[in-house]
Amino acid sequence: MARPRILLTRKWPSACESRLAGDYEASLNADDRPMGAEELRTAMAEYDAVLCTVTDRLDAAAFEGATARIVGNFGVGVDHIDLEAARAAGVTVVNTPGVLTDATAELAMTLILMAARRAGEGERELRAGHWPGWHPTHLLGRGLSGRTLGIVGMGRIGRATAERARAFGMEILWWNRSDTEAPGTRVETLADLFERSDVVSLHVPGSGETSGLVDLDLMEALGPEGILVNTARGSVIDETALVEALRRGTIAGAGLDVYAREPEVPEALRGLDNVVLLPHLGSATLETREAMGMMVADALDAFFGGDTPDNRV
Ligand code: DGY
Repeated sequence: MARPRILLTRKWPSACESRLAGDYEASLNADDRPMGAEELRTAMAEYDAVLCTVTDRLDAAAFEGATARIVGNFGVGVDHIDLEAARAAGVTVVNTPGVLTDATAELAMTLILMAARRAGEGERELRAGHWPGWHPTHLLGRGLSGRTLGIVGMGRIGRATAERARAFGMEILWWNRSDTEAPGTRVETLADLFERSDVVSLHVPGSGETSGLVDLDLMEALGPEGILVNTARGSVIDETALVEALRRGTIAGAGLDVYAREPEVPEALRGLDNVVLLPHLGSATLETREAMGMMVADALDAFFGGDTPDNRV
């Protein structure tokens, strides 16, 4: 029987590519060139499986006349895939939950620490040759011990971030849309969470429902000593309001790993000192990226072997 034809839209860790190329008729993207919308649509109509990443937009048109029976997303977030259209076209979508939890929680802690301790400002100052030397009032930040972390979205990554923050002596408050049990104190409204927290970290998925969830009112509730951290999706924050809040001192600072229109990062944001900006590094460790690729490969094996993959969206 002919081996299924699969397309990887980007370059994957080599261990994953070797496995997939050994088991399937695989088209790899050796140059790692991002594919355009039209190319993705064509691929969906030519291959048996398309293995995309979180930067590939698979809109409704991509599923029209699709030959692909499965989309394997290298990433947990699926806000770039029209899931309704996939369902209607009978295309299975799988993602990579769980394996990137620790890496993303570590990055949330990185941003919390960098923003609270003004590490980005310090690094930029030193590299620019502007460090005036040690002095008692130089770049005074805020410690984490005894401060309160508010978590928006108490799923896997929210919990893992809370666990790490507790080790730094932080109190945990959390808000979650649906009922769940978790350590720390549950807060009923987002306004209350922002009001009572020193640092807020976002861990909700990107979707129509969460788009612009964090607006100027919530930033005002967080207040002039507050820090906002986002490792979820850029769309969750009203970016224009955030720039204003950082400029006016409505909040003290922010740490961002994700942006509304990646890889574009607003000039206004890049010009501000009180924000730490990372280029979507949440899951960027070799072991995590390999585990993500292997998880997609496992799902393909199950699917083409006639089983239902565990990580079906
Ligand atoms: C995801 O998996 O959704 C992340 O944003 C990419 O690491």
